[in-house]
Amino acid sequence: MIYLPSQVILEVTSACNLCCKGCAIHGPQHYVTRPMGTMEEKVWRTAIADIGSWGREVNLTTHGGGEPLLHPRLKEILTFAKSFPRLEIGFLTNGMLLDQDWSEFLVSLGLDWISFSIDGVFPETHRIVRKRSDLNVIEDNLSTLLDIKQNAGTQKPRVMLNMVAYDEVLDQRELFVERWINKVDSIMISHYRNPPDSKRWPLIPADRKPCFLLWSQMVIAWDGRLGLCCEDFNIDFPLGRVTESPLLEIWNGQEISRVRNMHERGEFDSHSMCRVCDTWADNIVHESKNEARGYRIIQKASQTVYSAL
Ligand SMILES: C[S@@+](CC[C@H](N)C(=O)[O-])C[C@H]1O[C@@H](n2cnc3c(N)ncnc32)[C@H](O)[C@@H]1O
Ligand code: SF4
Ligand code: SF4
Repeated sequence: MIYLPSQVILEVTSACNLCCKGCAIHGPQHYVTRPMGTMEEKVWRTAIADIGSWGREVNLTTHGGGEPLLHPRLKEILTFAKSFPRLEIGFLTNGMLLDQDWSEFLVSLGLDWISFSIDGVFPETHRIVRKRSDLNVIEDNLSTLLDIKQNAGTQKPRVMLNMVAYDEVLDQRELFVERWINKVDSIMISHYRNPPDSKRWPLIPADRKPCFLLWSQMVIAWDGRLGLCCEDFNIDFPLGRVTESPLLEIWNGQEISRVRNMHERGEFDSHSMCRVCDTWADNIVHESKNEARGYRIIQKASQTVYSAL
């Protein structure tokens, strides 16, 4: 049996222009020790053409542990990816560099989704948790994108926001949702994860199940190595390399099959990274409505997602 992922994370660059408090890669803890860099053309072209040949819908995400807008050829990468009709393309961004020219490009390209990482509503606390950022610039960039999208009369890209609930901004969660709920498609409020002990959340069921990501998510680092999953920040468990073998051969190879088998046998503690990770529970969702406020709410292990009713 050959497994195919429904999501691929393509880390076009691991470079970043910010230094966020909790970032495993660029934060003050410097938890990640692998070398930083930017994906070469041979790697991104080979990977995207390979993914595009699978003949199935795949969500292709062009961020990883860096800021995708720092890749000097991101426009070419996105345009190439868009030439494969069954790929749904999007990325997370810190929004600092997403100027009018970028927004016009993304709307005319028909990018499927984009998510801005914005932590709260006040510039003073924002620059504490997202060091080197300027909330006013990011909010202007976001508003410009929303205007361009509206003027073009298109639904794309779907615009999402992700706020990390750091202690410094915890009390801004409601203000944040109120501020953006009627302007964007959805808002995620994510638990703060404290690296390196970053993979534990409240409200995890005791009855552990195999991790859905092992069968649904492929991760490709900037240097072409495949990691085990999105929690393998440091690529400590490489599965293979894009330019050496076809992606599905790597993703159905010995190393990942060994971890899948471990999970199927319930031996979660046998893997040092899975032992301390709660991400396996992130596909358990509880949906509710807050009619009074006009929200739909999806509660997941790692985050709460709000959208307008
Ligand atoms: C690693 S970033 C990469 C993309 C881009 N540079 C950005 O910030 O959107 C991915 C997301 O993880 C979030 N994040 C960073 N550190 C976190 C932490 N300790 N806990 C939870 N989320 C975190 C960021 O705010 C961002 O939304
Ligand atoms: S902007 Fe993204 S990649 Fe950069 S430091 Fe912040 S969370 Fe990390
Ligand atoms: S349990 Fe965590 S570390 Fe293990 S495969 Fe799932 S996401 Fe990765």
